[in-house]
Amino acid sequence: MNPPTVDVHLDADYFAEALRADVREGLAASAKFLPPKWFYDAAGSELFEAITGLPEYYPTRAEREILAAHADDVARTTGAHTLVELGSGSSEKTRLLLDALTAYGTLRQFVPLDVSESALREATRRIAGDYRNLMVHGVVGDFTEHLDLLPGGTPRLIAFLGGTVGNFMPPERAKLLAMIRDACGSDGWLLLGTDLIKDPATLLAAYDDAAGVTARFNRNLLQVLNRELGADFDVDAFEHVAAWDEDNAWIEMRLRAMRRMTVRIPLVDMDVHLADGEQIRTEISAKFRPEQIMTELTDSGFDTRHSWTDDLGRYVVTLARACD
Ligand code: AVJ
Repeated sequence: MNPPTVDVHLDADYFAEALRADVREGLAASAKFLPPKWFYDAAGSELFEAITGLPEYYPTRAEREILAAHADDVARTTGAHTLVELGSGSSEKTRLLLDALTAYGTLRQFVPLDVSESALREATRRIAGDYRNLMVHGVVGDFTEHLDLLPGGTPRLIAFLGGTVGNFMPPERAKLLAMIRDACGSDGWLLLGTDLIKDPATLLAAYDDAAGVTARFNRNLLQVLNRELGADFDVDAFEHVAAWDEDNAWIEMRLRAMRRMTVRIPLVDMDVHLADGEQIRTEISAKFRPEQIMTELTDSGFDTRHSWTDDLGRYVVTLARACD
């Protein structure tokens, strides 16, 4: 068997510096925010895995249903030699693609990329153990920064699943899709998972589950700042908020300070003042209209070849070809 390789582009210094820059910017802003990528330390990655099994969190199941039905179509249409997965996490759903592509006989290499080193190492070990003829080459990195460092050459099939593209505001999303287009290479492919606009009650429940797992996932971000930056956030003094922004068609997650407080963050030398009730935005998760996805893909240099929804019409997976 091939032992898996793991390249680490988010080494300790890079990680620390990027986190400090994001905290300096986001917590000094008049409307405070923190980027969602910092959710995913080892504890956060585990909490996210727990979220994917919650009754209210339908996107993972909807996407799995679509991949189960159409992974063969993806294999036949693309004949991919290299599958890259951005924000791969545990890569559990990806097995449906790996099964189809190895059965079809073209796949040689799997390149999962994730910010979480623990999740990535675990995933590469398990996948390499189960797919003995596959080269597994993991990358610990940030897909907004490290796409030009992907191993394995073009053309590639890049899978960007889970609805993670929705974490970016429209201008950043356009930039990211254009970078992914370049990383695919000519004749390359993108497999994109996106959540669809639906009734707000269903959307809100998915981000505010009854068991409170999403609340713990959200608050864990403050634990990351306490540990990595020596901050003294009183994590229990923050309440989880999920809100549907109708105009922007996105879910916002926020942390709401339940009292007035000053938080000391030594490693960025900041004293952050929070008013009673003040909120820190921690994530946006955009939801789409089906036509909009095609338009955005066209605008970033892709030609949509297939788009598949689950039976309940909640979610869509699109297969698009990188144009010249
Ligand atoms: C992993 C980014 C797709 O936006 O639905 C789950 C993260 N946040 N519950 C999403 C998340 C709250 C998730 N993504």
